[in-house]
Amino acid sequence: MPAPNLSTVEGVLAKFHEELYAAKTPHDRQAVRDHYLGRKNSVLADWMERLAAAPPAEKKTLGQMTNALKRELEARWTTFLDTAETSAAPADAVDVTLPGRPVRLGHRHPLTIVRTQLEEIFGRMGFSAVEGPEVEDEWHCFDALNMPAEHPARDMQDTLYLAKPIAGRADNAKDVRTLLRTHTSSIQIRYMEAHKPPIRIIAPGRVYRRDDLDLTHSPAFGQIEGLAVGEGLTLADLKGTLLAFAQQMFSPTTRVRFRPSFFPYTEPSAEIDLSCWQCDGRGCAMCKKTGWIELGGCGMVHPAVFEAVGYDAERYTGFAWGIGIERIAILKYQVEDIRLFYENDLRFLEQFQY
Ligand code: DAH
Repeated sequence: MPAPNLSTVEGVLAKFHEELYAAKTPHDRQAVRDHYLGRKNSVLADWMERLAAAPPAEKKTLGQMTNALKRELEARWTTFLDTAETSAAPADAVDVTLPGRPVRLGHRHPLTIVRTQLEEIFGRMGFSAVEGPEVEDEWHCFDALNMPAEHPARDMQDTLYLAKPIAGRADNAKDVRTLLRTHTSSIQIRYMEAHKPPIRIIAPGRVYRRDDLDLTHSPAFGQIEGLAVGEGLTLADLKGTLLAFAQQMFSPTTRVRFRPSFFPYTEPSAEIDLSCWQCDGRGCAMCKKTGWIELGGCGMVHPAVFEAVGYDAERYTGFAWGIGIERIAILKYQVEDIRLFYENDLRFLEQFQY
């Protein structure tokens, strides 16, 4: 390409264009602009001077050319600025003085924090964490737990029954109905069917009930089951285990109280109450002035359960308990509405960053 001729309008415009688009920084671009369009010592200023000094015969033509040059240079500069803003500018428009964008660290859900804590506390006492299927069959959820069909205790744990047996499951042969498990107690049965005593397990997991969602209920929630089986285990072992747990989970001075209760799979059965760690049993809003907080159910494994899994009920004894994970989280963090755990509202969840 021949070098542009700076004595013609086209030549100047071509050179202006070339230099402008070759400029790397906003500062360089401004320098190009000033070199051509500046009021003094610029290409345009030269043309003006030339015009002033031109003989009268040339003034008209040279005047028109100078005007045209000025107009074109200005027009191109404006166009360049417009397009540079959207295309060229961003590439080098990084403002290194801006504050950085903070990387937001993820953290665990409060229910996961509580479950992990439970696993740690019982883990230190020798309990291993195991799991079982959420789609369960009636045998493991009810029958083997001493709750035969038509047993009234089933009424409190209504759930969704599924049309099809579980594909590929060996126990399909038993021709049992499948359902969404109503408690983690079914894992006791599965574990005992597959293992011989001694046993020390905890089994956290999600369970399902026909409950409407409200402040304190959810049709799906988390439980943690505990089971110990061996020779010579007593109710004192059960109480001591739960006491050690409660003192680590809530307060070193927490006490445990057993209230007689009924579960078909334990005998005797009890409700677990903890002394209120907020008022130390004196009575406050948290414990509804009773001094005690209800935590879950427990008991000594019923001989009928041992028989269902083929254990010698004369030789072995065991204890079991079941507590709600949300229930513990609600008590520990003073959460007023169980639904907050499921709504993924970051304003709630971000309060548990540890
Ligand atoms: N399965 C009971 C429930 O969901 C809780 C429970 C009570 C579990 C007593 C146990 C137990 O292992 O021994 O309400």
